[in-house]
Amino acid sequence: MLTIPPPAPQGLPRSYAFSGQSGGAGKTQGVVNLGVELANRGHRTLIWDIDPQRSASHLLGYQDPPPGHATVFSVLTGDNKLLEAIAPARYRITDGQTDDAFRTIPNLDLVIGTPEMADAEVTLGNDPAGILWLQNIIDEQLPTGRWDAMLFDCGPTLGILLLSVVLVAPHVIGCVNDEYKYVIGLTDLETTLDRGRTKLRRLGFHAHIAHILATNIPLDSHGNVDRKAGAITDDVIRTIRTNDQWGPHLLPLVRRSIRFKETIVKQRPLRFHAPTSPSLQDVAAVADALGFPRRNSTQRNRR
Ligand SMILES: Nc1ncnc2c1ncn2[C@@H]1O[C@H](COP(=O)(O)OP(=O)(O)O)[C@@H](O)[C@H]1O
Ligand SMILES: [Mg+2]
Repeated sequence: MLTIPPPAPQGLPRSYAFSGQSGGAGKTQGVVNLGVELANRGHRTLIWDIDPQRSASHLLGYQDPPPGHATVFSVLTGDNKLLEAIAPARYRITDGQTDDAFRTIPNLDLVIGTPEMADAEVTLGNDPAGILWLQNIIDEQLPTGRWDAMLFDCGPTLGILLLSVVLVAPHVIGCVNDEYKYVIGLTDLETTLDRGRTKLRRLGFHAHIAHILATNIPLDSHGNVDRKAGAITDDVIRTIRTNDQWGPHLLPLVRRSIRFKETIVKQRPLRFHAPTSPSLQDVAAVADALGFPRRNSTQRNRR
């Protein structure tokens, strides 16, 4: 029988799970660029790369770790401790794989992802307490007060892995890119969370779509969606805005920039790859909307 987890301990970091049923919804760019923004504001932030595609790890300076190196999967299976799978986030400054090809991003850390996370659904499904894996790790292994915020880059599946994440990060950010399929994905995410709140109530499950993050949106000079650049994208945003459940939760739109596509191969988040990109202002507006103030320098870099 499952044990009922205790209430979240005081001092737990503010946590957000970025989800979206389809690949390409904007989860990774959302997590990474918001993480960089929060870190820059002085909030010590931990990014969890849950997605087997592990783009967040690539983007934050980590190719696949050598065999045997701790990752989120070896933490999940209990083969490693959480702190062994955490590395300082970094961005590329020159060619090569040595450490001096990268510069560390202050205040930003990463739980390293791995393709083995594709097996997590089965591994957790075979474990009677599988849904509690993350809850238990956070209760037992997360150092109190070390991070102010945690962002989870969830994979595209809506199974036990996602449920286990949103059990500890109930504020879910539903991600939407510029096509209508992401609206359908949002509906499916909502249905999954509704079902979780009904069936997993005894576990304290209360996850819900707290915010919607729409990215890759063409904006005109007034900040409105530029219908000429894409009627479907305009329809996507209208559909969200006119939905009573969703409209109030829509975060500031992150405008389209071709520079995003380069960031993964360059291994530089947008702030370091294209520091004058107007999309960074949108990411800052998202951080404001989520209520993360800019901390002064004495509050910053406290570790
Ligand atoms: N504001 C944006 N402008 C242009 N392209 C974007 C923007 N946001 C995301 N993208 C692109 O959309 C694609 C999907 O984004 P990504 O964050 O990788 O999605 P996911 O992690 O959900 O699969 C990527 O190619 C990414 O570069
Ligand atoms: Mg991704």
